[in-house]
Amino acid sequence: MVNILPIASGKGGVGKSAIAVNLSILLAQKGKKVVLMDFDLGGANLHTLLGLKNNHAGLGNFIYKQESSLEPLMQETSVPNLKFIAGDCLFPGTPNMGFFIKRKLIKEIEALDADYAVLDLGGGTTYNTLDIYLLTYNSLLVTSPELTSILNAYSFLKAAAYRFLNRQFKAKSEERALIDNYIKTSAAGAESSYVALVEEICSKFPESGAKAKVELAKYRPQVILNMGKTTQDLEMARRLRSLVWNKLNITLDFVGFTPRDSAIELAVATRTPVALSNPQNPFIKQLNTAAERILQHTYNYNENLEDSDPTDSTDIEALGGEFSKL
Ligand SMILES: Nc1ncnc2c1ncn2[C@@H]1O[C@H](COP(=O)(O)OP(=O)(O)O)[C@@H](O)[C@H]1O
Ligand SMILES: [Mg+2]
Repeated sequence: MVNILPIASGKGGVGKSAIAVNLSILLAQKGKKVVLMDFDLGGANLHTLLGLKNNHAGLGNFIYKQESSLEPLMQETSVPNLKFIAGDCLFPGTPNMGFFIKRKLIKEIEALDADYAVLDLGGGTTYNTLDIYLLTYNSLLVTSPELTSILNAYSFLKAAAYRFLNRQFKAKSEERALIDNYIKTSAAGAESSYVALVEEICSKFPESGAKAKVELAKYRPQVILNMGKTTQDLEMARRLRSLVWNKLNITLDFVGFTPRDSAIELAVATRTPVALSNPQNPFIKQLNTAAERILQHTYNYNENLEDSDPTDSTDIEALGGEFSKL
């Protein structure tokens, strides 16, 4: 079975692509079969980071129906166990993915012969991005410790939560009408409360509401705090966790705290990922901790094991300890 790992962020430029490439390499080096896919349609750049030429058909070909399966789009990389599917290399502009093609694409991803499908998403909160992000309960969110990046991460999760809630009910259902109406009225200025909305649905529609609540409780995004400078940055992780818990009732699992490191920027120019050129680099060492935690969460999830207490913050504190040793 393939474990899907979509990687998103609220704000662009926080390191999603750098993390997608290096994390995929680390997982492949641990013996997992990995397919890395560039979902930043319109701004695809993973082939550059991997040192591959921009001359192979990619997801754009699938979306424009020139290919009906992902198999011909798959490229070998220099890393054993790691395959790559490019974005829209041969197509200028952003392909617009309709409902049916999106459903077909998702089926294809779910049928991949791999342990992990790592999906590097573009920025923004379009329905396409949110639907790919919501393909699993444990998707990954990247943020930097900057306040704007933290607030954008929160906004992204809020948009994802509303989308996730909406998808629990049938098209044209009364529940969906209530959600739509709620979003419209809050857009007009009233302070919106996601938690109050969920409670309202549960009181008006006890049966479907209770079912939805069970699904919502399974949703547990993983977070990497990238471009860290000092362990004080972890305060932003704690704030994001409590904001998201208080406003959205969503538990975040902090899996990684990676430092700002000029080697990551230089790797773009040399077209060689740092995980390959310098495995001892501090960013890579920290990302390796994240890779191990991600493997553990996948295992817990697949085996139906309980993850830790939602209010437990030992994961964040442990990341600080390792960071200060760098
Ligand atoms: N930890 C880091 N330290 C230094 N530079 C980084 C780090 N992570 C990413 N960068 C750089 O920041 C820029 C944006 O990163 P990128 O991975 O393209 O972000 P995104 O995919 O989220 O838009 C790139 O120039 C990248 O090399
Ligand atoms: Mg990117």
